[in-house]
Amino acid sequence: MATTPPESPSSRRKSHHMLLDEAIVTRHSTRLFLPKEVPKSVLEKALKLAAHSPSNSNTQAWRLYIVTGKALDRLTTALKQEASSGAAPNIPPLPEQFKPWRSELGKLIYGEGWGIPRDDAEARRHATLRNFEFFGAPVGVIVCMSKQLPGVSAMSVGMYLQTFLLALTDLGVGSCVQVSIAGYRDLVREKVGISDDLEILCGVSIGYEDEEMNVNKVRIGRMSVDDTTVFVQD
Ligand SMILES: Cc1cc2nc3c(=O)[nH]c(=O)nc-3n(C[C@H](O)[C@H](O)[C@H](O)COP(=O)(O)O)c2cc1C
Repeated sequence: MATTPPESPSSRRKSHHMLLDEAIVTRHSTRLFLPKEVPKSVLEKALKLAAHSPSNSNTQAWRLYIVTGKALDRLTTALKQEASSGAAPNIPPLPEQFKPWRSELGKLIYGEGWGIPRDDAEARRHATLRNFEFFGAPVGVIVCMSKQLPGVSAMSVGMYLQTFLLALTDLGVGSCVQVSIAGYRDLVREKVGISDDLEILCGVSIGYEDEEMNVNKVRIGRMSVDDTTVFVQD
């Protein structure tokens, strides 16, 4: 199997790059993009970096379809049609105890972000449909994994994805991971031509962020370390 040695950090102009912690806190979900193409070289740079992610037995479980141009237009047209026809997306429901997180996020995105009044269900529905146009991004990614791998391998794909997003952040490119896209996986498979042996995990919108828009100024909080972590000692 062909392997390529990692690019030496010292060979790069460090001053043009973000520090790791800066990239981590700067990354956020972008939900409106400028109509500006992302050069293939930029995507390839981020993809190459992401390939250094750890994975179970180095299986490198990530398989990506990067959809742009007319292929993306065809995909978004079909997705929007399906979503607005009332066909419910096939997304596993959240358990009750986790639902408050989604409500908080919804309030921020639809309320502060889009300025939609709480009771305007039609405007909310319309905003939700923007998921299926990849929020106007010029690049739509479909993230897949072999159906033969165990569920735990999705962790490898997740690690890859975060590394990919951080690399994009460093390159000034915005992104949003979207489980909503996998809600219509059969349609996505057909339109993109994804082979049957791959599971479709999620989509990702990628492009340059429209920084003026309120929806992109939304920053959602996090639990404290104490809420999620137990230090076991003695
Ligand atoms: C697996 C996964 C699926 C997601 N699906 C969606 C989605 O369908 N639509 C959306 O707008 N955001 C989606 N998001 C983005 C999350 O809402 C977002 O990451 C979270 O609220 C934290 O906000 P931040 O990314 O701005 O830090 C998803 C994120 C992940 C990791």
